[in-house]
Amino acid sequence: MENAYLEQLFGLNGRTAVVVGGTGVLGGAIAQGLARANAHVIVAGRDLSRGRSRVHEIEKVGGSAAFFNVDATCRESMKALLESVVAVRNNVDVLINCAGVNASTPYFEIPDDDWNKVLATNLTSTHLGCQIFGEHMAANGGGSIVNLGSVSAHLPLSKVFAYSASKAAVVNYTKNVARELAPKGVRVNVLCPGFFPAEQNRKILSPERTAVILSQTPMNRFGSPEELVGAVLLLVSPVAGSFVTGAEIYVDGGFTGMRL
Ligand SMILES: NC(=O)c1ccc[n+]([C@@H]2O[C@H](COP(=O)([O-])OP(=O)(O)OC[C@H]3O[C@@H](n4cnc5c(N)ncnc54)[C@H](O)[C@@H]3O)[C@@H](O)[C@H]2O)c1
Repeated sequence: MENAYLEQLFGLNGRTAVVVGGTGVLGGAIAQGLARANAHVIVAGRDLSRGRSRVHEIEKVGGSAAFFNVDATCRESMKALLESVVAVRNNVDVLINCAGVNASTPYFEIPDDDWNKVLATNLTSTHLGCQIFGEHMAANGGGSIVNLGSVSAHLPLSKVFAYSASKAAVVNYTKNVARELAPKGVRVNVLCPGFFPAEQNRKILSPERTAVILSQTPMNRFGSPEELVGAVLLLVSPVAGSFVTGAEIYVDGGFTGMRL
């Protein structure tokens, strides 16, 4: 296989990629993968120390990155993030909407605060990212946005009512925005991971639940965050992914194809 050919298909040299929620487990691996494909990566999130360590991990292997603070649920904060990035990089080519939270409560006891926080973090932040960065990309020659869905978008997962509803909405919203922005040169897709142990789902993955999940995952294991990178590079590449928009890509060890 020719390296030059792979570079032409997937290389992101000179491009700027913003990973909102790049402080997290999946966002961190995606940020690292984008940097290794030669993008300059902006790790954006609320956690300064974790953001700094993500940047350090990228720089350690020769990548280029910086951390910017953002509250992804707040319009003013997301606008300020775009302005700060444009001030130093002129342009944003890639946005990954990867901030997320989860909450597990018996149905009749779901606190309104939990419901609102999950919807705001998973859905509203995705909307703000697509709208604010999408407008910038449309005015600057195009770009690519990847939203984070989940296997729970189509197969509602027990105990996580707000989470499943938010992810179903993210998939629907992604397709609608993909149609809206396609004529403006902005591609919008949704990546739907299966089960990857991370901060937001640590409490939810009890031994009993883990056993059920694995029994319904043909590959019989959890995913490892780096296993998302290939799909992300396809989606964000203006060459390899040039005709891909409104797509939902499952990286789930076969979970969504399985019926007992
Ligand atoms: N881990 C999985 O199995 C899995 C499966 C499907 C989808 N996802 C989705 O992937 C995305 C990343 O999740 P993860 O599993 O890496 O979880 P994670 O908890 O490790 O990372 C989420 C990150 O989002 C950040 N965040 C939360 N609220 C924020 C806000 N208001 N502003 C800015 N940043 C904020 C957190 O600080 C954290 O760093 C989420 O959308 C999640 O729903 C995860």
